[in-house]
Amino acid sequence: MASTTETDLITKLDIVNISPEKTTMDKETLKTSELVTTETEAKKDVGGGSAVGAPSRTPEFYNKAQKYWSTVPATVNGMLGGLGYISAIDIQGSNVFLREIRVPGRKLALDCGAGIGRVSRNLLMPRFSCVDMVEQDRAFAEKAREYCEQEDRADSAVGDIYNVGLQEFRPTKQYDLIWSQWVLGHLTDYDLVEFFQRMRLGLAPDAYFCLKENFSSTNKVILDDEDSSVTRPLDQMERFLKTSGFRIVRKVRQQNFPKGLFPVYMIACKPNVKTN
Ligand SMILES: C[S@@+](CC[C@H](N)C(=O)[O-])C[C@H]1O[C@@H](n2cnc3c(N)ncnc32)[C@H](O)[C@@H]1O
Repeated sequence: MASTTETDLITKLDIVNISPEKTTMDKETLKTSELVTTETEAKKDVGGGSAVGAPSRTPEFYNKAQKYWSTVPATVNGMLGGLGYISAIDIQGSNVFLREIRVPGRKLALDCGAGIGRVSRNLLMPRFSCVDMVEQDRAFAEKAREYCEQEDRADSAVGDIYNVGLQEFRPTKQYDLIWSQWVLGHLTDYDLVEFFQRMRLGLAPDAYFCLKENFSSTNKVILDDEDSSVTRPLDQMERFLKTSGFRIVRKVRQQNFPKGLFPVYMIACKPNVKTN
């Protein structure tokens, strides 16, 4: 989310092509094919695979992100890279999206990469009796409970807040909705596919997995070296979802964001095989 402005777009170099039309992908393929780098890193030669592709080389990618987020204020503005004023438009777009897909269950939702609980408080708690969250930063996780419980809602509660990275998180419940927003760029390709597979198994019957992310407007992956995240092309994300056993049931571009930001899409998925 730090890499959202036009200036960022101009200063970032996306130099690695994504191989087109890849329909199947095993872990070996993921290790080496989805190269993500900046010009600087390319010159440095990360060797064999990429910082993002190879599981054995990922601690640095995660540690750097952790360090970055530890410097960010636990505020809505902090969560949105200084663009706190887009929060209401964002939530409104997500509300319309959720109304359209008609999530049948109303009991339990999961907010992935929840930050201080902006999405939980404004989007999920008004719809679900209980909301769990996953957030890697301890201070944000603590703030999330306070921020979401501030809202006096008799009909909804904050459930478990898992203070762990999504790359390690394993759901132990069956969720009516799993929502993941502005966080998946912090996962390596390999971990992203594994994360999708685990989320698929954490869904109640007829439940949805939804993501809302920035996407690059070209067919290239863009690395943000500051917050250690990547912005992926839409078709790559779609391939990863399909590889993980999801089918995409709705895809909508967020409207009315300020000019110069990356395109933001909401994608709703269901398992393409019965897992429950
Ligand atoms: C741009 S903020 C978005 C927060 C929230 N989803 C929202 O839209 O307000 C990104 C959040 O992802 C968290 N994050 C970064 N890497 C993560 C990871 N590997 N696992 C879980 N959370 C992560 C950050 O700590 C931060 O709270």
